[in-house]
Amino acid sequence: MKARSTDKPLSKNPHLLKWVTKMAALTQPAAIHWVDGSEEENAALCAQMVAAGTLTKLNEDLWPGCHYARSDPSDVARVEDRTFICSHSKDNAGPTNNWVDPFVMRKTLKARFQGCMAGRTMYVLPFSMGPLGSPLAQIGVQLTDSPYVVVNMRIMARIGLPIFQQIDDDGKRVVPCMHSVGAPLAPGQTDVPWPCNPDKYIVHFPETREIWSYGSGYGGNALLGKKCFALRIASNMARDEGWLAEHMLILGLENPQGEKTYVAAAFPSACGKTNFAMLIPPTPLLAEGWKIWTVGDDIAWLKPDASGRLHAINPESGFFGVAPGTSVKTNPNAMAALAKNTIFTNVALTPEGGVWWEGMTDTPPAALTDWQGKPWTPELAAETGAKAAHPNSRFTAPAAQCPTIDPAWESPTGVPISALIFGGRRATTIPLVYQAFNWSAGVYVGATMGSEMTAAAAGTIGKVRRDPFAMLPFCGYHMGDYFRHWISMQKNLSETPCIFSVNWFRKGADGKFLWPGFSENMRILKWVVERARGRACARETPIGWQPRFADIDWTGSDFTPEQFAALQAVDRAAWRAEVIGHEELFIDLHAHLPKEMIFERELLICRL
Ligand code: GTP
Ligand code: SPV
Ligand code: MN
Repeated sequence: MKARSTDKPLSKNPHLLKWVTKMAALTQPAAIHWVDGSEEENAALCAQMVAAGTLTKLNEDLWPGCHYARSDPSDVARVEDRTFICSHSKDNAGPTNNWVDPFVMRKTLKARFQGCMAGRTMYVLPFSMGPLGSPLAQIGVQLTDSPYVVVNMRIMARIGLPIFQQIDDDGKRVVPCMHSVGAPLAPGQTDVPWPCNPDKYIVHFPETREIWSYGSGYGGNALLGKKCFALRIASNMARDEGWLAEHMLILGLENPQGEKTYVAAAFPSACGKTNFAMLIPPTPLLAEGWKIWTVGDDIAWLKPDASGRLHAINPESGFFGVAPGTSVKTNPNAMAALAKNTIFTNVALTPEGGVWWEGMTDTPPAALTDWQGKPWTPELAAETGAKAAHPNSRFTAPAAQCPTIDPAWESPTGVPISALIFGGRRATTIPLVYQAFNWSAGVYVGATMGSEMTAAAAGTIGKVRRDPFAMLPFCGYHMGDYFRHWISMQKNLSETPCIFSVNWFRKGADGKFLWPGFSENMRILKWVVERARGRACARETPIGWQPRFADIDWTGSDFTPEQFAALQAVDRAAWRAEVIGHEELFIDLHAHLPKEMIFERELLICRL
């Protein structure tokens, strides 16, 4: 293999060249590496990180092509309180975002980025969010001093030479993404395995469509194509251009007759999107010929096609999935997808050079090393509560490796969407499933979603917070305007998708989940799809249409009508408190709240 000179530009685009030169002058890297995206380059970067102690090569026989990384214990999740939307006007960011005057923020960032790449290589990483050349795709270039980010982005997005080619040929608008771990090296200073900085900034400039991220190397803080671009910046593009950028999985349900129906579903972080997207139907339904196809597990870009039908693409090409709880029992498709060519971060290591996490098997293997590099045993865990894998430990796996990946998952025009589902993690109040009466009632359901906080973000785990459309941490402009945009989207559609609410996480008085979840969710999905097709029955309740026990396919299940009734109960006193919770959010947003939300709330109160 002939080594190429990596600081030779791989693009001729004058704007790109000028920006790279300017940013190099600011950050002072020791070298510049233009990322071509090749197999050889990836192997060299991984080998270099293995030598530096950032990556561990896993046992090639057990985990072919896989690597393991352990982050700094202070850099394990998204940092929402350090995430900023710096629009010109504070009113444009709205009360749910952290806002700083863009001029002030640029000054702050300039000081942080000054010389921040000293002693490191700056990678010039071009990427496409969405299938290459799709009319729905968008292009970015991330400058980063983290080779870990480069090898992760290679799985999560389409990167390298074809993207440079597109930038040169089409002159397509590029979103500049600046990223540094914020840990410059003095001459002779030895590096740490996971460089980062306690002072973190995840910054978005919506008007200029720019991202600046400083101090973190982890997940959505650092893989800038994901939450920063595909949600926060893209939500701004989508509002201006008449489409939707959403925190949604996309799946297709095929019935025994071979008819496929696609749905998109928004659940907050760590609330079941990856699991739902890859669901395998319960055995009897599988035998009848029901099958689920996976298009995406985290982000959907939705746009009406020429005929006015809503279509969706998955802008990503990989899964950055929650490891704990993933097993051959709960999600065999994810287990197959992550069996090779995967990067594991913050899980536990076995002595054979394999990985393990809570929930992967019933009994943990012996002599584990935990996510912080310490010896771990079940006895120790019983004593101290220490987890072998961090609750937000993740796998980065190529989507193409998922056995149920939909043949149309890279279709440039996307797949047609018939139903939208909103769901949170709620121990009480919210039933297993109901259908909203119409589009504006459905937008109200999305707007008033609540969920218990999870380990995906730094914060108080378990506390219920309003998380409209599962977009609270990801909407790049005023949430009230975002509701208005959702309301107005229907006017451009020739066919209105049905909207549903689900909650897999309702608990009984004993604190246990009332619903088995996972593959059993198929029964609920079947009803959803049949409703969208106008073929299933329901009864009217104050909150929407609910299936009766007899409306759900219980083939092969011993679930009882009483159990179902407990899950579906609409407790008027609890809903009263719930509506007061809606009102709290609406008060914050009132100046921008579309009147439809007020009317829907009034109707709901009247019906209750
Ligand atoms: P992000 O990647 O953070 O956006 O998360 P996600 O929405 O893709 O969530 P994921 O599917 O990774 O699930 C998160 C956690 O919820 C895992 O620990 C799962 O085991 C658990 N989970 C998923 N589906 C269900 C379900 O139907 N019932 C129950 N009880 N738990 C579930
Ligand atoms: C989420 O938190 O919703 C994720 C993980 O999907 S991260 O990429 O870190 O945002
Ligand atoms: Mn997510």
